[in-house]
Amino acid sequence: KKCIGVLTSGGDCPGLNAVIRGVVKSSNQLGYDCVGFLQGYEGLHDPVRYKTLTPKNTTGILNQGGTILGSTNKGRFAATVGVSDRVEIDPELLAGVKTTVEQLGIEGLVCVGGDGSLAIAQQFHEYGIPVVGVPKTIDNDLSSTAFTFGFDSAIECATNALDRLHTTAASHGRIMVLEVMGRHAGWIALHAGIAGGGDVILLPEIPWTWENVCHKVLSRESQGKQFTLVVVAEGAALPDGRGVGKEQSGRQAQLGGIGQIVAEEIERRLQRETRVCVLGHLQRGGAPTTFDRVLATQYGAHAVRLIVEGKLGEMVCYQPPDIMSVPITEAVNQLRQVDPNSSAVQAARALGISFGNSTA
Ligand code: F6P
Repeated sequence: KKCIGVLTSGGDCPGLNAVIRGVVKSSNQLGYDCVGFLQGYEGLHDPVRYKTLTPKNTTGILNQGGTILGSTNKGRFAATVGVSDRVEIDPELLAGVKTTVEQLGIEGLVCVGGDGSLAIAQQFHEYGIPVVGVPKTIDNDLSSTAFTFGFDSAIECATNALDRLHTTAASHGRIMVLEVMGRHAGWIALHAGIAGGGDVILLPEIPWTWENVCHKVLSRESQGKQFTLVVVAEGAALPDGRGVGKEQSGRQAQLGGIGQIVAEEIERRLQRETRVCVLGHLQRGGAPTTFDRVLATQYGAHAVRLIVEGKLGEMVCYQPPDIMSVPITEAVNQLRQVDPNSSAVQAARALGISFGNSTA
C-alpha cells in the first residue's frame, strides 16, 4: 500500500499536532498509510524509529501543544543551504535515510520545521529523497509565507502577559519590561506590543537609543502616567550594536538576556523602579489558537496534496487568501523581517507607541 511519512523538527510550537492530524486524516482519505518518525530527522536512521499513524491513534490531538512525535533541535543532520555558508549533511546519513524511505515504501515525507529544518529537507530533496516542507516557527520569520503556524499562539500568550503586567505596573507606578522571543525578527514583539498596549517596542529591525526610550517614559509621566510597558524582542540589538539574544540558545538568552539589561539601564538612568519578565518558553507551549489550528490543518492537508500531485521539493505556504506552495529553497534563503515602514509599524507610531528611534 502507498505510504506517506511525517516528522516534526526543531523547536516545538503550538499546532504541530494539528499538522500531523491533518496529514494523517487527509492521506487516509486518499488511501495512503501514514508513518510518523520520532525525534525529528533523528528517527530516520540508525536506529530507525517510527510509529504507524492512523485516524484512530491521532484522535484528540488537534488542540494539544507540543508534538506527539517528539522533536530534535540541531541533531546529527544540522545543515544550511545558503550559497556561501552551505553546511552539508554527512553523505552516509543521506544514504541511510534514502534506504529507510525506500524500505518503508514512502512516496513523500512531510518535514515540518523552521529554516534550519527546511534546509535539511532541501538537501534531502537534492539527494533524491522525496520531501515536502511545512513552515513552522513562532517567530514568523520565514519568507514566502505570510504566517507560520505557532505565531498566533505565541502572540496570544505574550499579549496575555502584557495585560497582566499592565495592571501590576499601574498599581505600583513601575516600568515593566517584557522580553519576548524572536531571535532574528520582531514579529512577536510588534504584534503583542500593539495588542497588549505596549508603550515602547524594541525590535531587531529598528535601531534605537536609550535616550529615546527614557524620553518616552518621562513624556508619559508628564501626562500623568506613572507606569510604562516596554516590549523587547530577544534578538533586538543594544544601541552599542551588541546582540544579546541573537546567536544563543533559548536557555542562554534567559540567563540575563536583553530584557534584564534594558530594565537595569532604564532604572540606572531614570531612578525609577523597573522590573523585567522573560516570557521564554511559555510562548511555545500549550494549546494552539483557533487561527493556528486552521492554518496547521490546511498546511497538513496541502502537504499531502503536493505529494500526491508529485510536487516534491515544495513547501506549503499561506499567501492570503490562498494556501499554495513554493520551492523550499525560496523559503530558506532569506529571513522575513518586520518592515519599519509597514502599516502595522505606522499604525503603532500613530498611536504614540515608541520604537526608541525618535522622540516622537
Ligand atoms: O525559533 C524559535 C525560538 O523559539 C526562538 O524565538 C528562540 O530564540 C529559540 O527558538 C529558543 O530555542 P531553544 O530554547 O530550543 O534553544
